[in-house]
Amino acid sequence: MAEALLALKAYRVSLKISDKYLEVIRGIDLKLAKGEVLGIIGESGSGKSVLLKTMLGLMDYDSYRVDSGTLLYEGESMLELPIKKRYQILGRSIAYIFQNPKQSLSQRKTIQYHFKEQFKVLGKPYDASYVKQLLSDVGIENQTTLLKQYPYQLSGGQGQRIALALALVAQPKVIIADEPTSAIDATLKLKMMKLLKQINEKYGTAMIIVTHDFDVIHHITQRVVVMYGGLVMNEGDTQALMKASVHPYTRGLITCAESLKDMSSTLYELSGYPLNPLNFKEACPFAERCERKTISCEAMVPIMETYRGERYRCCHPYLDANDGGLAHA
Ligand SMILES: Nc1ncnc2c1ncn2[C@@H]1O[C@H](COP(=O)(O)OP(=O)(O)OP(=O)(O)O)[C@@H](O)[C@H]1O
Ligand code: SF4
Ligand SMILES: [Mg+2]
Repeated sequence: MAEALLALKAYRVSLKISDKYLEVIRGIDLKLAKGEVLGIIGESGSGKSVLLKTMLGLMDYDSYRVDSGTLLYEGESMLELPIKKRYQILGRSIAYIFQNPKQSLSQRKTIQYHFKEQFKVLGKPYDASYVKQLLSDVGIENQTTLLKQYPYQLSGGQGQRIALALALVAQPKVIIADEPTSAIDATLKLKMMKLLKQINEKYGTAMIIVTHDFDVIHHITQRVVVMYGGLVMNEGDTQALMKASVHPYTRGLITCAESLKDMSSTLYELSGYPLNPLNFKEACPFAERCERKTISCEAMVPIMETYRGERYRCCHPYLDANDGGLAHA
């Protein structure tokens, strides 16, 4: 991997719930190279948003605690910095597009107001022609009209595009998009995927795309991280992982996604429900739902191992040559 722009090591976070701390992120290692597009996938509640938002200081500071870990941005250690200083550095270099970007805007203010605010925060004079250029780059045609509109007047797709254009004002080195396609329909999804690719190429930004959707992972990411129960369970080259991951959880997710697309096949679903942090224990978090489970899976959290460049936590991975295809999932 090229030199890491962003590197997270052994990162643990607890959320404050009714005056008690509950661990939800349990030792995550993550790297992002310059210009790379990394996908993070995992079922609801696996910890994707908490991981990224706490890393950037975007959650209410009283609502969580970073228990341990290091965060390097361009080689500089971030977590020891006073929160304001960290936010100054990361806020300018890393743009975070929220899961519901329209709701994250002030509904009583025009889109132009939001752009002006963005310039103000960055200490730069407002540049109307640059804003129009950005809007054009994210596929907004009637820019003058749109700037006069209010967030509630936008469609889901326009909301995503505006959020992306607002993020680009700061000329970030990294864009993190949390569920960029969940609020839009299938036809717009394809357009949004193309757009993210174009932005990555034109502006040279690295990206982290958080999603539930393997189509998105398949089409725009180079590497993928699979999260479950506050842990990275599997990580590797996107195409290789999607063809034949060694991990039962990843295989289960992919088989579900493929059966949803193939109307002629029987619908496949993973049994049970995602693990709640209240029920975390020293065992494989996927144990209650895994068809390959044995007693050893419940003895400890599987350690991270590597096989042909793929990282995985699992006691019984599909390493055998005969296990090559996803038919075994
Ligand atoms: N403000 C909060 N208060 C209490 N628990 C929270 C809070 N935010 C998140 N959690 C819990 O932390 C865990 C991780 O949540 P997180 O939002 O990171 O999941 P996610 O992977 O982003 O899910 P989704 O795909 O639904 O967005 C979940 O169990 C969630 O219920
Ligand atoms: S460790 Fe065991 S329970 Fe967990 S994914 Fe692997 S085989 Fe399944
Ligand atoms: Mg989320």
